Amino acid sequence: MTSRVAIIGTGITEFGELWDESFRSLITKAGTEAINDSRLEGDEIEALYVGSMSPGLFSGQEHVSSLVADHAGLKGVPATRVEAACSSGALALREAYLSIKSGEMDYVIAGGVEKMTDIPSNSATVALMGAGDQEWEAFKGATFPGLYALMATRHMYEYGTTLEQISQVSVKSHENAALNPKAQFRFKVSLEDVMNSTPVADPLRLLHCSPITDGAAAVVLASEEKAREICDNPIWINASSCSTDTIALHDREYVSRTDAATRAAGKAYRRAGIKPQDVDFAEVHDCFSIAEIMAIESLGFCKLGEGGRFTEEGETSLSGSIPINTSGGLKGKGHPVGATGIAQAVEAVAQLRGEAGKRQVEKAKIGLTHNVGGSGGTCVIHILSGDLK
Ligand code: COA
Repeated sequence: MTSRVAIIGTGITEFGELWDESFRSLITKAGTEAINDSRLEGDEIEALYVGSMSPGLFSGQEHVSSLVADHAGLKGVPATRVEAACSSGALALREAYLSIKSGEMDYVIAGGVEKMTDIPSNSATVALMGAGDQEWEAFKGATFPGLYALMATRHMYEYGTTLEQISQVSVKSHENAALNPKAQFRFKVSLEDVMNSTPVADPLRLLHCSPITDGAAAVVLASEEKAREICDNPIWINASSCSTDTIALHDREYVSRTDAATRAAGKAYRRAGIKPQDVDFAEVHDCFSIAEIMAIESLGFCKLGEGGRFTEEGETSLSGSIPINTSGGLKGKGHPVGATGIAQAVEAVAQLRGEAGKRQVEKAKIGLTHNVGGSGGTCVIHILSGDLK
């Protein structure tokens, strides 16, 4: 069994409404970039994991493990599709990590991809709702904007969180996205813009929502022994954890909390031997801006119920005490659902290598990624760092 697992290469496509790209061209581009970055040859890769939530409904394509291996030049390599709704990407990363950790493999690639914009938005909403409880939520008319609106309403009721505080998450996400050349929305928005944007599901407005996005990302992983041999700046996965919760929101004890995230975070911090205060930055799952507020509470960056105030005070901005979503997050960078968990790891690696350009966090030593499926039925967390002296 290898003692540690490293990320030695990353690749990511532009995110957005990409008419000139297909499912296969997106993942092939991201994968090729990641393999080139790792300086491996394609035939050294021993296994492929690909996170994709609903290629059948978005693109009419199933059996994407074979498709990706074929078109990425990895024919013959064992390939596995991983699906856990919007956390498919991070779960693919976790499976890749475990395959190396077990001692079975030395070089593995994990990718994530979704091509969402080839169908109308209402069909995309139905496809996305496949991540909820079909019998008790979808058939009754619930949508993800609707479910997160319920969480926002409850959070506001229990903790006095204001819509301005929730909107401040979007303002900050767009500020960071404006600095990210790969982001879908490379422009800033004001608090007023967010507050006055079109209502989607009360109290949530358009600028509180992540968009429908095409995109792909990939990372190459190596065992510690191999990473030391071939890579000057390996980024270590110090913890990989996953927890689940009820699939339906109404079955949870608390609607304004994400307990799967709290459990996964507890495990990850113990495994990495760190505390929340040791984390220098995090990429969290802000599919709706209220989700970021619940995430930073579950991850222990602030107390339960204080996420709104914490955000309003600028603590999560690029120059704050714990920069959140330097990439622009799902709100600003975009949310090609199966790709998101891997894209978060790509951003974390860029920060830890000191390659994040204008959105670089000073002295970024330890980063955390938090990827959620559905309304919180799955949560996957990774903690990463370079060599810590
Ligand atoms: N933020 C900012 N702008 C957005 C946006 C978003 N989330 N979504 C769409 N837009 C913009 C588009 O770029 C377009 O701008 P343009 O007119 O300047 O070109 C305009 O709004 C209309 O776009 P359209 O695609 O027609 O929007 P829509 O009304 O069909 O969809 C949402 C908007 C919010 C309903 C859709 O983005 C959505 O469902 N988001 C949530 C996705 C989701 O649930 N993901 C899973 C989470 S668990």
